[in-house]
Amino acid sequence: MGPFAVIFLAGIYSTLAIEAPRKELNDGNMMPVVALGTGRGTAQGVDIEEVRHAVFWAIEAGYRHIDTAAIYNDELQVGQGIADAVSQGLVKREDLFVTTKLWNDKHRREQVVPELRESLKKLGLSYVDLYLIHFPIATKVDGSPDDVDYLETWKGMEDAKELGLAKSIGVSNFNATQIDRLIANSKVKPAVNQVEVNPTLTQEPLVSHCQKLGVAVMAYSPFGFLVTRKRDDVPPPRYDDPALVKIGEKYGKTTGQVVLRYLVDRGLIPIPKSANKERIAQNINLFDFKLTEEEIATISAFNKNIRVIDPKSWKDYPNYPFERD
Ligand SMILES: NC(=O)c1ccc[n+]([C@@H]2O[C@H](COP(=O)([O-])OP(=O)(O)OC[C@H]3O[C@@H](n4cnc5c(N)ncnc54)[C@H](OP(=O)(O)O)[C@@H]3O)[C@@H](O)[C@H]2O)c1
Repeated sequence: MGPFAVIFLAGIYSTLAIEAPRKELNDGNMMPVVALGTGRGTAQGVDIEEVRHAVFWAIEAGYRHIDTAAIYNDELQVGQGIADAVSQGLVKREDLFVTTKLWNDKHRREQVVPELRESLKKLGLSYVDLYLIHFPIATKVDGSPDDVDYLETWKGMEDAKELGLAKSIGVSNFNATQIDRLIANSKVKPAVNQVEVNPTLTQEPLVSHCQKLGVAVMAYSPFGFLVTRKRDDVPPPRYDDPALVKIGEKYGKTTGQVVLRYLVDRGLIPIPKSANKERIAQNINLFDFKLTEEEIATISAFNKNIRVIDPKSWKDYPNYPFERD
């Protein structure tokens, strides 16, 4: 094959599949720095069956990291999308990094491993790459508060790692005090804290705290209020914000890509959710440009400390991690 053919094929390949670099976690495992989000909570109208296609399209586009959770009720469809991709020879299981999460009503130590086995059964996998405690809050099955300390839950997570059912373990929605308390009282340090980060919730103090401790930060709801949310009180920026559009024009990228790259440039692992084939491909096409310090500061200046995920109905529960008012 001549050099032109190689360049031509490389060109086609690069438009077809773009793999994100991997980041080493504090336990030595390697995590791809962009994950496909599959939770459909506050995002508009996604049919559960679309998750199977979204996962397949994502793997086809080069994603190697998929984020799900027991509470999303889509682990079956995530597993089907993965199985489709594996059976068509796009990837092997070991090329993928699959994250799932333990829900609040299964926080007792003896519940953790059986609950992970349930998730694995639905996913059709023998292990996950990362298992997270979804929230530090414990509830009963009826949603009322329960008195299980997350230190107890973490012992169950350590059991899961010990058994090889989860290669890495971590937490989600933990604040800095909770992370410190967990690290001070546990054998295994959490590899990850998955929290909301976007232009209107930039979370500099929590992010730098985690990063100093060697805890990688995954950024959920990465588009913040750039995209439609089911509420009225939405702060700027919108998708057509002039400052973001200008940065995008400089690099030939969309506003969405600028915001995702902003998160990558801060050392975060964004989890964009999309069920649309083109947007799925767009959201991983982030590795041929880099923002300047000034552009990062411009985007950080949108911060308003306003959350997309703001579960105020839990504000009086023990271990509520966010601001109460
Ligand atoms: N740990 C936790 O507590 C927690 C909480 C919330 C979320 N998460 C995780 O994070 C993921 C993402 O969060 P999220 O779903 O709240 O928000 P998101 O990814 O910030 O936004 C999703 C919305 O953006 C749209 N979108 C995607 N790509 C776009 C693009 N390039 N341009 C314009 N619009 C675009 C999607 O529509 P289309 O589908 O039509 O493209 C969807 O409506 C979840 O799926 C879940 O995996 C975790």
